[in-house]
Amino acid sequence: MSLAARLFRWTPACLILSLAAFGGLHTPQAAPRRPPAPLARPAPLARRPALEPRRVTAVLDALDTATGAGGATGEDGRPYAFRLQPSTSLWRFGAPGAMPEEFLKGERMQLKLQPAADKGQPAWTAVEIADEISELARAGRCYRMVSQDRDNYRFTVELLDVAANQVVGAPLTVEYGRETSLILREEPIYVFRIAPGTRLWMNTGSRSGAEFRTARATLDEVSLARFRRQQTLRALARLDARGAPGRVLASPKGRVRVDLTPDCPEWAERLEVGQEAQVRRSTQAGTGPTGRIRSVKRLGSALEVVLEADLPSTAPGGAVWLAPAPRAVSYRRDIQPLLEVNCLTCHREGRADGGYSLSTPERMRSGSRRGPGVVPGRSDQSMLYLTMSGDRNPHMPPDRDATPEQLSLLKAWIDAGAALE
Ligand code: HEC
Repeated sequence: MSLAARLFRWTPACLILSLAAFGGLHTPQAAPRRPPAPLARPAPLARRPALEPRRVTAVLDALDTATGAGGATGEDGRPYAFRLQPSTSLWRFGAPGAMPEEFLKGERMQLKLQPAADKGQPAWTAVEIADEISELARAGRCYRMVSQDRDNYRFTVELLDVAANQVVGAPLTVEYGRETSLILREEPIYVFRIAPGTRLWMNTGSRSGAEFRTARATLDEVSLARFRRQQTLRALARLDARGAPGRVLASPKGRVRVDLTPDCPEWAERLEVGQEAQVRRSTQAGTGPTGRIRSVKRLGSALEVVLEADLPSTAPGGAVWLAPAPRAVSYRRDIQPLLEVNCLTCHREGRADGGYSLSTPERMRSGSRRGPGVVPGRSDQSMLYLTMSGDRNPHMPPDRDATPEQLSLLKAWIDAGAALE
């Protein structure tokens, strides 16, 4: 239901007025005219209690990543004060699993908000935050380049239904500038030039007072596929390290039953009966008992997990995190996918930028003329790690930094001897 439709439903007086205005309440040849009964003035809408989750398109004003408190201004000009929860689903580039830090001030996004349970401040709890690219991807839409005005740093796109290849919205003109990062055919492009007809997925931001929105991340189809896969790998590494958020359902002696909302289906599929895991009271490692997983039940995107562990004095409903017990980093599972999605476009057979190819493990190790790629046991001498951590130039990959969790995986793998299993 549209917001407008919902407001009307809540406001019978308005409904009557609008029906009357459209002639809905006219009776043919009505009885003698009486002066209309005074209608009660509807209470200001903002004060009405919000009853159901609300989806709003808004511009982010602030997001404090330490407390999770945020503010946004809706398209209708209304302010929304909200708070993130550990379970808030954060979508970027068409996949869940983003970090709060990735959402930037001034960026347009879709918020799914729920009225806060305790009527306190802020008024809303964020159920989901998604960037425009995720919104487009989920709706099966994209933009198509129409024309570019290089003199004024602007371009015009039309909104397209991807499957039908049909234009579904009015043309949109946006500016490009310093905030714009253009990734075409998986590569950052520094001279903004896009051929008419190119399909684009785009995040935009609003500069205050500007006539047009400004393009931020702007991706073509293959780049989107790469960013999406990247997003999933980031989520997997983060969930392994910090645990997936959930609630305690029951904790009798020797058992803990939790309800998890892991925000990443691939991570959920990896949880196995018999595996060691830890229930924590925070995202910090080592803050809770460890035990074997006894059962995993999937309920839509949520999981019900029973763990053989003692979690004393935890009332049902208490927030916990469940993390697989630390294990040796595996090349095949943790490292290879990371390098494949982040590096191979530019460092492979036939195109080895900087003279470095990652096509085979041997090449990856041997590195380039400047030095070895991987020195087993010594991440501090391995160019592969040093360029990704930013300790040595050039900072890699050029378009998007690896997350701290991904860097620790890489470091741990090299320091443990960089085995290829
Ligand atoms: C979009 C293309 C691109 C991607 C993706 C990319 N690189 Fe690079 N990389 C380059 C270019 C270009 C250079 C050479 C830059 C220079 O010499 O200043 C380079 C240089 C390097 C070097 C230094 C090689 C030398 O001897 O100078 C290393 C190490 C490296 N990249 C590692 C990586 C890793 C690891 C990844 C993935 C996490 C990655 N790169 C992703 C383009 C890329």
